Amino acid sequence: MLSRLVGVSQERQHKTGFETRAIHAGYDPDPTTGAVIPPIYATSTYKQDGVGGLRGGYEYSRSANPTRTALEGALAALEEGERGFAFASGLAAEDTLVRALCAPGDHVVIPDDAYGGTFRLFEKVEVPWGLVHSPVPVHEVDAVRAAVRPGETRLVWVETPTNPLLNIGDIEALASVAHDAGALLVVDNTFASPYLQQPLTLGADIVVHSTTKYVGGHSDVVGGALVVRDLEVAEKVAFHQNAMGAVPGPFDSFLTHRGLKTLAVRMERHCDNAERVVEFLSGHEAVSDVIYPGLDTHAGHAVASRQMKRFGGMVSFRCAGGEEAALRVCDRAEVFTLAESLGGIESLVEHPGRMTHASVAGTDLEVPADLVRLSVGIETADDLIADLDRALG
Ligand SMILES: Cc1ncc(COP(=O)(O)O)c(C=O)c1O
Repeated sequence: MLSRLVGVSQERQHKTGFETRAIHAGYDPDPTTGAVIPPIYATSTYKQDGVGGLRGGYEYSRSANPTRTALEGALAALEEGERGFAFASGLAAEDTLVRALCAPGDHVVIPDDAYGGTFRLFEKVEVPWGLVHSPVPVHEVDAVRAAVRPGETRLVWVETPTNPLLNIGDIEALASVAHDAGALLVVDNTFASPYLQQPLTLGADIVVHSTTKYVGGHSDVVGGALVVRDLEVAEKVAFHQNAMGAVPGPFDSFLTHRGLKTLAVRMERHCDNAERVVEFLSGHEAVSDVIYPGLDTHAGHAVASRQMKRFGGMVSFRCAGGEEAALRVCDRAEVFTLAESLGGIESLVEHPGRMTHASVAGTDLEVPADLVRLSVGIETADDLIADLDRALG
């Protein structure tokens, strides 16, 4: 049976470990059949016991669906939030959040190296709607402090680590900058996943996920999520989730939830493999710079060590031979598949300048042309290194 329409009980989330919550939170075995896994409720509507007599609060599947409820409860439990919300994509989650919490004329601070699609959403959709935004380096707390406009800034929006430059924002410090200005701190936790970092416990107000990535983890479903710490914010998001309707269907909710259950073991392996890859790349003559928050030479290493459990599966590097060399690595790699996206079990390689971040070309957010981004998967580490060795020539 679904534990509650709004997610897992607070009592249970605080008593159990992350892995236990990942597997059990949000759902108790169905009392009629004993099904240990949430069934895919492929239904758009629900029989009412008399007008308004809803069973468990279910009325229509845009508003709520039991398969989605189970996922939302698990997400809330893992991020230690008050309530979780699932969406059809990460960008759908972001747009719903902006409209739930901002009005035309409001100001937001966003990362100057945000995921290209997030920047495009703000630039091409939210700005024409009336939002005012300031892209700033969110790994520089003073720059964020200088950019907030007390009384006018509604949201300070942070990615940490950022995509694709893996900069680290200090969540605790940024929360206090945002709160001092009367704003809320939003953290896109896609790159870290709730296993490696729990922003709400560090003072953030809202967590955003592209669950397409580590949460789903198997590159077989697109989805997004919001987890909030506060009931008032939860009510606004709940209203907009239903009113805007960008929800995932039960099949997608099921897949995302299935992935979430193994997040902890997958993340440990992603981190192990990423460390091996970083070690290999750091000694390679064709590589001019390796960007990974686990390196003590990384500017955000100290903050990352404080707020993350480990440093994640994303590694970026710059090629000594410039853009041509970067494109060659992408073409030659075989075990690393040339593809957009990240966070799945399989290793991916991409050229951000021409692929994920092509939409920010010519703006302040343009990324270096010699940059290659790796999403290190959970294959045999030796095979990943042999592949990179071959690709780097
Ligand atoms: C950090 C980050 N946030 C948000 C998104 C958007 O999510 P989606 O592609 O699920 O809409 C992405 C997608 O790559 C991302 O990398």
